[in-house]
Amino acid sequence: MEKPPLRPSGTCLIAGCGYVGQRLARRRSGEGPVLALVRRESGAEDLARRGIPALALDFDGATPWHPPSDLGALVYLAPPSGEGQEDIRLARFLRALGSVRPQVFVYISTTGVYGDTGGAPVDEASPPAPGDDRSRQRLDAEGRVARWCLDRAVRGVVFRVPAIYGPHRLPLDRLRRGEPVLRAEDSGPGNRIHVDDLVEACMAALDRPVAGVFNLVDGLPESLAAFTARVATLAGLPAPPQVSWAGAQQVLSPGLLSFLRESRRVTSRRAEELGWTPRYGSPGSGIRASLAEMGLAIAADQ
Ligand SMILES: NC(=O)c1ccc[n+]([C@@H]2O[C@H](COP(=O)([O-])OP(=O)(O)OC[C@H]3O[C@@H](n4cnc5c(N)ncnc54)[C@H](OP(=O)(O)O)[C@@H]3O)[C@@H](O)[C@H]2O)c1
Repeated sequence: MEKPPLRPSGTCLIAGCGYVGQRLARRRSGEGPVLALVRRESGAEDLARRGIPALALDFDGATPWHPPSDLGALVYLAPPSGEGQEDIRLARFLRALGSVRPQVFVYISTTGVYGDTGGAPVDEASPPAPGDDRSRQRLDAEGRVARWCLDRAVRGVVFRVPAIYGPHRLPLDRLRRGEPVLRAEDSGPGNRIHVDDLVEACMAALDRPVAGVFNLVDGLPESLAAFTARVATLAGLPAPPQVSWAGAQQVLSPGLLSFLRESRRVTSRRAEELGWTPRYGSPGSGIRASLAEMGLAIAADQ
């Protein structure tokens, strides 16, 4: 017989409550108390106005802080601080937790830890091979979380996620400005997940007795050019002009170029253990839902 789900009792702390965190906080607040941590006081006030209890805490700062005494679950969503190969921000945050011991710790990492495979598939058993310091910091963070959880007998879950899209996270402004994209034949497959699918995976990780590393993808790998063209079609905007690699180096930002230099086809062997399948796993479904939530018309699918 299947074991009943293991729901953590007590407060769910959402550390780094931005785009994903706010949607998770709304979803989780139906299940029990939630506390959001954000960097700035104005951000905390804004969340509180929208019904999400929040505290301002800069994880890079030295302000003393006491986690809730009834901490049941912790979801960490802040990115690394961006210097070196270690996630110093996370290291400080873990120290600040002191002896607190939640029942579960969910850490959101990235599929960037696999590095560039030239478009070849990777799953959770593939060895990480980060190609830049940003991804090395992520791998460092994953290791820190795993050790922290092991030392305290806390159930730890790491989600490796690709590009997150959803309402207000579509390339609509870039399309309106007529910005070019790297043509599909010069780029490998990219991977994505709709924000609400990520939120549902977090809910599953909080409540089911799973642990370890999981890849989360929508199962629709395609180039950034193909995805952007799909958004354009559905939003009724002109298709973006396509440029070659040589052209891209003149017009695209260094950050985007570095992102485009890597490609892999991310799959998951383990998502089933979560009892999770992406709701937005058919082409265009997540884009349509995002446009609808933003109150934008959906153009005919031609
Ligand atoms: N966007 C993607 O496509 C993507 C893909 C894979 C993984 N991820 C990762 O998934 C996680 C969640 O993504 P997201 O889109 O929700 O990110 P987000 O909107 O940028 O939210 C991150 C949150 O962390 C907070 N934060 C950053 N530095 C902090 C500090 N020093 N002290 C306290 N809080 C701090 C930010 O506060 P401020 O707003 O005040 O800076 C923000 O509230 C992030 O780690 C992100 O890197 C994102």
